[in-house]
Amino acid sequence: MTSKSLYSKAALLLGSCIASFTLGSTTATADIVYKAGDPSLKPFILGEVPYPKGNKPTPARIKLGKKLFFDPRLSGDGNMSCATCHNPMLGWSDGLPTAKGHKSKVLGRASPVVTNAAYNPVQMWDGREPSIDSQATGPMKNPNEMHTDIPAMLAFINATPEYKKAFANAYPGEELTLDLVGKAIASFERTVISNDSPFDRWVKGDAKAMTKQQIRGFKLFMTPEKGNCALCHSGPNFTDSSFHNLGLASFGKKNPDLGRYKQRPLGIMKGAFKTPTIRDITLSAPYFHDGSAKTLMEVVDHYVKGGVVKTNLSPLMIKAKLNNQEQKDLVAFMEALTTEPKPFDLPILPLSH
Ligand code: HEC
Ligand code: HEC
Repeated sequence: MTSKSLYSKAALLLGSCIASFTLGSTTATADIVYKAGDPSLKPFILGEVPYPKGNKPTPARIKLGKKLFFDPRLSGDGNMSCATCHNPMLGWSDGLPTAKGHKSKVLGRASPVVTNAAYNPVQMWDGREPSIDSQATGPMKNPNEMHTDIPAMLAFINATPEYKKAFANAYPGEELTLDLVGKAIASFERTVISNDSPFDRWVKGDAKAMTKQQIRGFKLFMTPEKGNCALCHSGPNFTDSSFHNLGLASFGKKNPDLGRYKQRPLGIMKGAFKTPTIRDITLSAPYFHDGSAKTLMEVVDHYVKGGVVKTNLSPLMIKAKLNNQEQKDLVAFMEALTTEPKPFDLPILPLSH
């Protein structure tokens, strides 16, 4: 082994130890039987939604958090809510390449989906937030996003009888703070879950839930010599919650976004971003942290090329060996990961006086 490859092995180990807290329960791909309901598919069933101590998602908390998530009056100008960028009508994202914030300023990164974020052991493209509870306070504090005057926002909640009562019910005896607002919003986010896609029904035994093409696509997704996608999109939420540089074209520009490197200054983390879930993926185009792929076919094309910019490319990014038909099969599989959209009940917001 050359010293260079020794180095990259060491860096990879170090990088992934530090970068990933929990690796999704990876299934040994060789052990999978591609048959509906086979016991080897059990690791793909999502477990109960986790929640932190002191913030069990009770009905009162969920109902309150839902109103707060959709309430633009939590923002500085009274015109932007969480749902502006995480809109249920747009797959809990915004349909934009990168988000637009305060006064329509174009921000540097795409709005990720909130769907299944409750399962993430780390939040944000660079993993800088440990939980959805702490994350929820960030957009309000951020002058480029909700631009909230925090004391004024808390005063608004206190002066709105329905909110005041709802907080007292949901969190009896707890002082109203920004953190508590975040906890309520996170309780609602714990209900934004995708776990009943055609894939899930197939895993649980409904042989008709996926087409033959989608099953072929699933196999290509899992097979190391083919798509090799499950190397990073692993476990029931299709993410290792780790960070990788995929060689996107934007990394070749001047002063590129360094991603995870700002949190963990290790060479291998330069330009590395968190592996997102690909559940409900058809609903949230465009794709990647820079919104550079308009369709799932463009995403697959990127993996077939093995990345565009090779500097600092993750050593795990190996060209996917897929012919045209196989690329279509892979896209068909990803389509099977989308839960049939149900009508979403938008909340009625409390009247202020
Ligand atoms: C102006 C658009 C905008 C608004 C408003 C906004 N977000 Fe986001 N959200 C983003 C962007 C962009 C990111 C990714 C930022 C990054 O990684 O640096 C993000 C990341 C997240 C994540 C992390 C998801 C993951 O998989 O890592 C969650 C959860 C989230 N937002 C919830 C919220 C909540 C709750 C609110 C309201 C309190 C909110 N957002 C308001 C744009 C927005
Ligand atoms: C080396 C780890 C790795 C491998 C292998 C990998 N992915 Fe990814 N995937 C990621 C990361 C990291 C991102 C986000 C990268 C970014 O935006 O900078 C991502 C993003 C995506 C997205 C866009 C998600 C979104 O919400 O924007 C899709 C779709 C996707 N991958 C599918 C696949 C498929 C299909 C394969 C196999 C052909 C694959 N991935 C292989 C790590 C990987």
